[in-house]
Amino acid sequence: MPDFAARLIAWQHQHGRHDLPWQNTRDPYRIWLSEIMLQQTQVSTVIPYYAKFLARFPDVAALAAAPSDEVMALWAGLGYYTRARNLHRCAQVVVEQHGGVFPASVDQLAELPGIGRSTAAAIASFAFGARATILDGNVKRVLARVFGVEGFPGEKKVENAMWTLAESLLPSNASNAEVSAYTQGLMDLGATLCGRGKPDCTRCPFAPDCVANVTGRQRELPIARPKKAVPTRRTWMLVLRDGNAVMLERRPPSGIWGGLWSLPEAADEASLAERARSFGSDGEVSPLASFSHVFTHFKLDIEPRLAELDRGVGALAALNDAHTAWVALRDLDAFGVPAPVRKLLTSLRGSLI
Ligand code: ADE
Repeated sequence: MPDFAARLIAWQHQHGRHDLPWQNTRDPYRIWLSEIMLQQTQVSTVIPYYAKFLARFPDVAALAAAPSDEVMALWAGLGYYTRARNLHRCAQVVVEQHGGVFPASVDQLAELPGIGRSTAAAIASFAFGARATILDGNVKRVLARVFGVEGFPGEKKVENAMWTLAESLLPSNASNAEVSAYTQGLMDLGATLCGRGKPDCTRCPFAPDCVANVTGRQRELPIARPKKAVPTRRTWMLVLRDGNAVMLERRPPSGIWGGLWSLPEAADEASLAERARSFGSDGEVSPLASFSHVFTHFKLDIEPRLAELDRGVGALAALNDAHTAWVALRDLDAFGVPAPVRKLLTSLRGSLI
């Protein structure tokens, strides 16, 4: 798309934002302050904080000289407080190491506390008209959609490819004002028409060429963070049965199914047989159908085994204590039993009795 920059600049002039409090200035202090506040925070939230900061700290020297408690107090409510600590440190470094003047190069800016590669480029572009590439979350979304970039942009390989793409799109031979309009245009498009939820493609200058729009993949692009493969654990559960009753154990108060009544467990088949013997069975266990249960952070493969006792209901009642309950299968509802265990026991009801 050879005219990407030209179309974006034209769109920004006509439809972009022009009256934000940090626009229409070339003061790197004001631009830097806005860019730090705008990291992970919406324009409407930033505006009152920005005004408060500028009123109290009109220049970088005033901010550098302030007690950190005061900076933190003024920041309170904006969130991501590392930004505030870095903001204060950055002001001090600019005063102590750069004579109170922000450096103009992207590389030098990116060495300052709290300024990453994209923020450095935004500051250099807005304050100094530098031909510098930004790539924040909004820009990644725009590029992924317009150019059909596959892969999760948080992944290093994909991010690197996006940096290369973003650099290739920069306008060549552009004036300082055009570079600023281009950078602002990328931000504006990402924050307005090409938002995360419902992009407004009908008004977008790239609609006829945008891969996401043309192929109807606006919801798929950019590709979402891949779901982490959940680790799997395996447990053996003992269905110790006597007549129509089974033995339940109360689980420890914390951890999965904390405080619920469940089946005795062991980490392997032999240990389970050992547990069955300790409850008075002959150690003979027979397999039941295994099943899985998915928790938030892991999957539990459950291997149920059946063992038989023949003591009679009267004798069983004597075995009950705070951690042990012999329960008739039809009375299960009176106990807090985890859903998958309840399902297992309910499925046995027909076959056991
Ligand atoms: N988000 C990050 N930088 C911005 C800016 N300069 N204007 C609007 N939104 C932004």
